[in-house]
Amino acid sequence: MKKNINQKILLFASLTAIVTACGGANTSTTSVSNTTNNNSVSAAIPIGIAFSQTGNAALLGQDGIHGVKIAEKYFNDKGGVNGTPIKLVIQDAGGEEQTAINAFQTLINKDKVVGIIGPTLSQQAFSADPIAERAKIPVIAASNTAKGIPEIGDYIARVSAPIVTVAPNAVKAALKQNPNIKKVAVFYAQNDTFNKTETEIFQKTAKDLGLEIVTVQKFQTTDTDFQSQATNAINLKPDLAIISGLAADGGNLVRQLRELGYKGLIVGGNGLNTSNVYKVCKALCDGVIIAQAYSPEHPNEINKTFRQTYLSTYKIEPPQFSGQAFTAVQVYVEALKALDKKTKISVLSLPQLRTELNKEILAGKYDTPVGEISFTPTGEVVQKDFYVAQIKMDKDGNNGKFAFIK
Ligand code: ALA
Repeated sequence: MKKNINQKILLFASLTAIVTACGGANTSTTSVSNTTNNNSVSAAIPIGIAFSQTGNAALLGQDGIHGVKIAEKYFNDKGGVNGTPIKLVIQDAGGEEQTAINAFQTLINKDKVVGIIGPTLSQQAFSADPIAERAKIPVIAASNTAKGIPEIGDYIARVSAPIVTVAPNAVKAALKQNPNIKKVAVFYAQNDTFNKTETEIFQKTAKDLGLEIVTVQKFQTTDTDFQSQATNAINLKPDLAIISGLAADGGNLVRQLRELGYKGLIVGGNGLNTSNVYKVCKALCDGVIIAQAYSPEHPNEINKTFRQTYLSTYKIEPPQFSGQAFTAVQVYVEALKALDKKTKISVLSLPQLRTELNKEILAGKYDTPVGEISFTPTGEVVQKDFYVAQIKMDKDGNNGKFAFIK
């Protein structure tokens, strides 16, 4: 297979060189140009990754990086894009809007990627995605679950199912586990757009299920001390705590609620949906219920291979953000393949390639680790399978797992 790829690379490079020499392609917009020299052709198709590797979303971004790395090797071993390999170009999107914007600009203008996967936070997407939209470059979000992401523009799609579809399942699962739940304490990070929209969904779900919201406590994703919010809530004797935050702040809030004596069930939102939360709340993470848009047990072949590779590489079950990140790479590869079959991508200018690729992404149907998916014309994911998991920690608090609730 490798040999096959190398032959195709040579063919691809020479084809592009011929087209370029004949004036058939603008050398400054050659579809897969090298990152340092616009006139030369690199050996692989660059796909940009803008996940958080630093800052307060790094615990989530890390899961995304793990997923795309497995995907890069998996698809290249299978022949890449009709023989041409893909190459991930990774830029740290940090934890702020500006850091995500910087990553997008570098990927678009310097790295000349064909499309982008990212950023990690919806909060960042609302600032960075319009830059890609203006540059007419496809973006596939792989962890943005806030309301309104695909609506940012024609070039913005997501494989991360919106929270409105996913979050209610966790509250229903909590109620199934304890039908006596009546009083709910809600907590959310008020400086984060996604968490603001997620708490609205959680609060509506609780009310629709006949539960009483006894308090709504606010915090910042950068907070580490939650004594006053936790104490305020515990004084009102809730039977269920629902937290919308990110992994570090959310994990600390779980820990401090338990340390202060809260014994009821806890539902965590999508920002806590990573095994990286274990190192924050340790044994006290035990029992947190989190809705899932991915299950490692999804029975299709591609998920079986993804799960086995993930387990042997990282020694844990793949978490949701890894499954979604792998899926985003898969969508790019399959859309590129479909496009290449219609029009050789090596003869398209970079702007043409990005635009045609975007159309192909939205038109396709994909059998992925998150199940069979497609997109609405606006770029919203159409997905069938959703799950709920509960964190089970070992006694020492060092290791745990997401146990899927049947
Ligand atoms: N799901 C979280 C967001 O959309 C990470 O920001």
